[in-house]
Amino acid sequence: MPAGHKLVIANLKMHWNSLAEAERYERSLIKDWSKLAAAERVRLAVCPSFPFVPLVKHLGKAGIALGVQDVFWENSGAYTGEVSPTQAAAFGAAYAIIGHSERREHLGETGEMVSRKAHAALAAHLTPVVCIGETREERDAETTLSVVREQLNELFTFVLPEDAARLVIAYEPRWAIGTDRTPTSDEILEVKLLIRKELLKLCGSAGEKTPILYGGSVRAEFVGSVCLDPGLDGVLVGRESLDPKSLIAICRALV
Ligand code: PGA
Repeated sequence: MPAGHKLVIANLKMHWNSLAEAERYERSLIKDWSKLAAAERVRLAVCPSFPFVPLVKHLGKAGIALGVQDVFWENSGAYTGEVSPTQAAAFGAAYAIIGHSERREHLGETGEMVSRKAHAALAAHLTPVVCIGETREERDAETTLSVVREQLNELFTFVLPEDAARLVIAYEPRWAIGTDRTPTSDEILEVKLLIRKELLKLCGSAGEKTPILYGGSVRAEFVGSVCLDPGLDGVLVGRESLDPKSLIAICRALV
């Protein structure tokens, strides 16, 4: 990513229940995006549920990327209910969120699964946005840094070190997701520095180029101070991305 540019990943989770809803969102987002003066310095990727990915193709034409919220680690075969990275790419996705804490928590995704998925996404030329972060208990026990270090080490079980520059790391403290509680910019900075140091150790110079995002209750009002003081490359947005106006306000606040 060029210096000074920011990446915004919109995780729409399991929202939108109709094509009409998706189309309304698409129209409204494109309208507001086209008025964003600094749009060339923001890379925005919208990640709806799988069925909607091919249905919001106008986003791509307007310069907004598409992504998915997960992919499987195999590319085809007898895996009922799964979606392969190649399928996601064929329908227009450029990004794949991998290892979101909701999947780790509700579906038992392990570090090994996350690593396999990120590896498979890279093979299909998707950019994996790998989520890592500690629980409230881990933060209270002052084990945040060791938890994050371990998650990063697990990621490179299957992901090749030289691919570090082709993926994105999203630091998302689990306790900040969906809660309106956020870490201070100093707390984010401490973890960001640890992530960079670990990436350099694990991946050499490729680790210098990995964009590092913050996620967890991101809102336009504090994106400048909390998310940018630590010099992050962008943000992963949940709830606030459901309203195109709030999402654009976040993009505007970042550049
Ligand atoms: P939130 O979600 O912005 O609603 O806290 C963030 C996320 O789940 O990535």
